[in-house]
Amino acid sequence: MDRVPSIDVWPAGYVVAPPGARGRGVSVDHADKLACMGRLAAGIAHEINTPVQYVSDNLAFLAQSLTDLGPVWDIVRRAMQGEASPGDLERLGAAARSARLDYLMAEMPDAVVQSQEGLTRVAETVRAVREFSHPPALQSRAVDVPYVVDNAVKLTRHVWRGVADLRLHTDEQLCVVQGYPGRLQQVFVNLVVNAAHAIAAHGEDAWGHIDITVRAQPGFVEVVVEDDGVGIEPGVGSRVFDPFYTTKGVGEGTGQGLALVHATVDELHGGAVAFYSAPHAGTTMVVRLALAGGQPARSEQTEPGADHASHSVCG
Ligand SMILES: Nc1ncnc2c1ncn2[C@@H]1O[C@H](COP(=O)(O)OP(=O)(O)O)[C@@H](O)[C@H]1O
Ligand SMILES: [Mg+2]
Repeated sequence: MDRVPSIDVWPAGYVVAPPGARGRGVSVDHADKLACMGRLAAGIAHEINTPVQYVSDNLAFLAQSLTDLGPVWDIVRRAMQGEASPGDLERLGAAARSARLDYLMAEMPDAVVQSQEGLTRVAETVRAVREFSHPPALQSRAVDVPYVVDNAVKLTRHVWRGVADLRLHTDEQLCVVQGYPGRLQQVFVNLVVNAAHAIAAHGEDAWGHIDITVRAQPGFVEVVVEDDGVGIEPGVGSRVFDPFYTTKGVGEGTGQGLALVHATVDELHGGAVAFYSAPHAGTTMVVRLALAGGQPARSEQTEPGADHASHSVCG
């Protein structure tokens, strides 16, 4: 099937990843994906632990509140059974004050709502982790791109939360491509992590913005990850996509992130990647994937680079 021609047409100033990442020594196998997950694990554990902590605090508060409400309820029940004694109304007032009834009635619903939100977040994080660590699919399938991007945003929350406001804009139109959801999720995890790092590189107390847009274009879906980080030096060009190219310190960068992005998008999905960057003003990374029904994704059994030495892919 023909490649969607418009997928390779870029506005002026964009640096395009050279088509054909094959043979660059980038493996995108399952072990790599799990290694990547290993690096994210500590942050994700923290991400789960925080809501679990306040759900637990809220439950302790609710348990204590129910105990405090016991005396109030005793008097109400006696009154309902017609056994109220003359002093009960006064005792009711005293019991209500002692239980801080107004305070409890205001705070208890909040504690419940906050706990529900916390548990929803835990459930979402766990779901994203599960999807990420799925064994690789042998057959490509229909992938809802906004869903996969949203998962990547959730998995990387602990990375960007301290440095940026992140906004995700999604097209109303259907953005479904044929491909491998776990692999694509990993692509977007890398782009979001890079954006957060570029903002953090402004220095201590750095704060910035990450804007992610998923939109349907004629023949393809475009995911745009825009940050106001330190940008990529003009001379660097498409070398950012080379395996091991990194400007980060030892232990911080592996230089494998964009190589993986490139291999996954270009080779595995028949898509295209490019970026626009002005030094000190931020970077816009764009991933294009042929819309389902257009270019079919490759079968994973013939996945390029699968027999190469395995590198980490979460750089
Ligand atoms: N959003 C970005 N803003 C600025 N520089 C970036 C961005 N994304 C990638 N880079 C540059 O490209 C290099 C390679 O990125 P990547 O392959 O993900 O490896 P790593 O993140 O491990 O360095 C980074 O070290 C950085 O210099
Ligand atoms: Mg990276």
